[in-house]
Amino acid sequence: MSEAFPTLFSPIKLGPLTVHNRIAMAPLTRQMADADGTPTDEMVAYYARRARGGLGLIVTEGTYEQDAFQSKAYLSQPGIANAAHVAGWRRVCDAVHDNGAKIIIQLMHGGRVSDPRVLGGQPPVSASATQSGGWTLYTDNDYEKGIRNIKGDWPKVTFPPARALTVEEIHAVADGFAEGARRAVEAGADGVEVHGANGYLLWQFITPKTNLRTDQFGGSPENNVRFARLVGEKIRAAIGPDKLIVLRLSQDGVDDFTGAWPGGTAYAEAVGKALSDSAFDALHWASFNYRDNRFADDPTPMPTVLKRASGKPVITNGGIEDGPQAEAALVSGAADMVAIGRPIFAHPDWAYIVRSGAPYPWLPFDRKYVIQPPLDYGHAYPMGLVDPEWPVP
Ligand SMILES: Cc1cc2nc3c(=O)[nH]c(=O)nc-3n(C[C@H](O)[C@H](O)[C@H](O)COP(=O)(O)O)c2cc1C
Repeated sequence: MSEAFPTLFSPIKLGPLTVHNRIAMAPLTRQMADADGTPTDEMVAYYARRARGGLGLIVTEGTYEQDAFQSKAYLSQPGIANAAHVAGWRRVCDAVHDNGAKIIIQLMHGGRVSDPRVLGGQPPVSASATQSGGWTLYTDNDYEKGIRNIKGDWPKVTFPPARALTVEEIHAVADGFAEGARRAVEAGADGVEVHGANGYLLWQFITPKTNLRTDQFGGSPENNVRFARLVGEKIRAAIGPDKLIVLRLSQDGVDDFTGAWPGGTAYAEAVGKALSDSAFDALHWASFNYRDNRFADDPTPMPTVLKRASGKPVITNGGIEDGPQAEAALVSGAADMVAIGRPIFAHPDWAYIVRSGAPYPWLPFDRKYVIQPPLDYGHAYPMGLVDPEWPVP
């Protein structure tokens, strides 16, 4: 093995957890749980296969943590809301651990961008009474269109108007996150990631344009992150000091792919400061290109700003494709760990390939990789990749 990327392949301590290298798999929604949210055999195979590829930490796909308050966001999304979910995730966690990686379960509440088909006729909840102009994400895979007999464009399912959570309900939702975290640990996870990014409920509080509140949960960066902080505190009280708790942040939302925080890096700095004494062990920056913060007057990458302002280790994600790019993110001060999404989805052995230094025919991520059963999740898409027997780290 070459040691061309000494930082990338050095261990890291994130809060209570030591990880054998600085490569995390970014959370990727797959919609391959059973209809009732129970993790499936496909999920066990999919995560085990990627753990075997040599990465240090898996952050799972967004998982709904409670049945109350319309937390579920997607059809066939996994949950960690009951005993059957715990049993399913235990199989995933055991398989990942057997293959040498750590795993944290991403806890997510969809808020106003939840698929109305999973809301049971109830309005979605949000920071304020607003309505997203977006629609649920669909694959545009021709194969899937064929098996569903869909001609032309995929039908779009739009989001209904959301109602604002009361302060009492905010506390109840945070309690639901804490219970979900307790169940995640019961399932054998090494901790949890709180999803505060990508347009979902906590993002709707953190992002000024969707948070119009005038109480203690809105109106300033400190107030906008108060809900996320509360979730972190309640989770810590539920699972104790020995498990990792990460908070994921972003400017983008699934209904706002060019999102920008008003004030740019100044807002990021205020968010970072407001999280500096929070219960989170680390922050995780989500984007499609972490180098582009969308503000020409101060182009400092957002994760660099958040790291400095919070004093917390930062996992940085977005557009990191190969070893040199990953090492550069680490040595530039923009990251303590990198999270790789689409490349590890397409190439489960990404970490070993990078470490070996051998030339490899990288294939670009394609929307075609967003797939539905019955397909081969144990392996990668596209089919026919080399499948070496790497040693378990
Ligand atoms: C199909 C797909 C599903 C995703 N699901 C999630 C998710 O469940 N939770 C989350 O925080 N981010 C999710 N993301 C965002 C990724 O974690 C990541 O931020 C994005 O792919 C950019 O990173 P990359 O350039 O390494 O792929 C998803 C992205 C894609 C493409």
